[in-house]
Amino acid sequence: MKILAFETSCDDTAVAIVENGTRVLSSVQVSQLEHNQWGGVVPEIAARLHAEAWRPVLEQALAEAKLEMSDIYYIAVTYGPGLQTSLLSGTTAASFLSLLYNIPLLPVHHVYGHLCSVFLEREIKTIHFPALVLTASGGHTEFYLWNDAATWQKLGGSIDDAVGEAFDKLSKMLGLGYPGGPEVSARALQGNRKAFNLPVPNLGKESLDLSFSGVKSAVRRLVLARYPAWLEGDFSKRDEESEAFINDLCASFEETCGRIFKKKLTRIFELHPEIKALYFVGGVSANTYLKSIFEDFVQGYGIKVLTPEKIAYSTDNAAMIGSAAYFQIQNKNALQPMVQHVISKSRLSL
Ligand code: KG4
Ligand code: ZN
Repeated sequence: MKILAFETSCDDTAVAIVENGTRVLSSVQVSQLEHNQWGGVVPEIAARLHAEAWRPVLEQALAEAKLEMSDIYYIAVTYGPGLQTSLLSGTTAASFLSLLYNIPLLPVHHVYGHLCSVFLEREIKTIHFPALVLTASGGHTEFYLWNDAATWQKLGGSIDDAVGEAFDKLSKMLGLGYPGGPEVSARALQGNRKAFNLPVPNLGKESLDLSFSGVKSAVRRLVLARYPAWLEGDFSKRDEESEAFINDLCASFEETCGRIFKKKLTRIFELHPEIKALYFVGGVSANTYLKSIFEDFVQGYGIKVLTPEKIAYSTDNAAMIGSAAYFQIQNKNALQPMVQHVISKSRLSL
């Protein structure tokens, strides 16, 4: 079953074609660079750029997969959460195609897409349930208990900044650019992880929630004490000492993020000894240090940590939405009423 998927929840226009939830026939993406000059995503600009990009991106996705619209069984689209103007662009394009070609439309939750990113280019039998999924990106940091391909329950999440957002803010304070994760983790490799003692928040033993604003504020205080001009955006004075400071701060920050996660993992594994796998998804799962921390942690439980097969499937992409749509269809009892209605009107008998 070939599904054409759209993902436009933020500043990437992504279209993919996925077969049977796992096989990626094509996955095409265009990033909107115009926002860089404004220091953040501008909703109006995002909508305009999505409107301009979706047709060429769709054409490329069909060409790479050597398919035509008549080969497509379903159209899937991210309906939320995300930036409203961006979501509207994707859902409008997908609805238009659905009506034009009489192909049923499936709305997909963005976070469920991230969960299903572990299926991409893998054998379904290698994915074990029940699993703990950590979705970590610029917009969300959440733990989900994933009971089977279609049933998932949120256990906890960040009460303030998402972890990727904290990486991005640290990067901005240090003048390392956006997105911050890749550069901060590259700098961390050259630094001393014990150089600064940053705080791990105490939200109470029973809480499965996380917080990253305390570590971010502690970093800000250190920068303010040593290089206050950086916080005004003036990075003109750089020398060997300040480079070493940056590397140590990045290393200590990553180490503290690792400790914040480990503290919650300990409690989750106490509460849910049935967990058979840990899936680490979202843009931050590209971070090899955090992955290695999780691998060390789960060793005692005899389970594995799995990240998406490619970095392109860790960050926002449309293939994960195509995969999620397939599992929604396969597990129709678990579908939301709106999706069930769409399927009951579809040309397929399930
Ligand atoms: O999933 P994603 O592409 O978009 C959102 O849904 O937000 O994630 C983007 C986030 C950014 O905050 C970026 O800094 C972070 O993922 N990121 C990383 C790394 N690569 C990307 N964070 C830490 N280490 C990385 N290597
Ligand atoms: Zn995302």
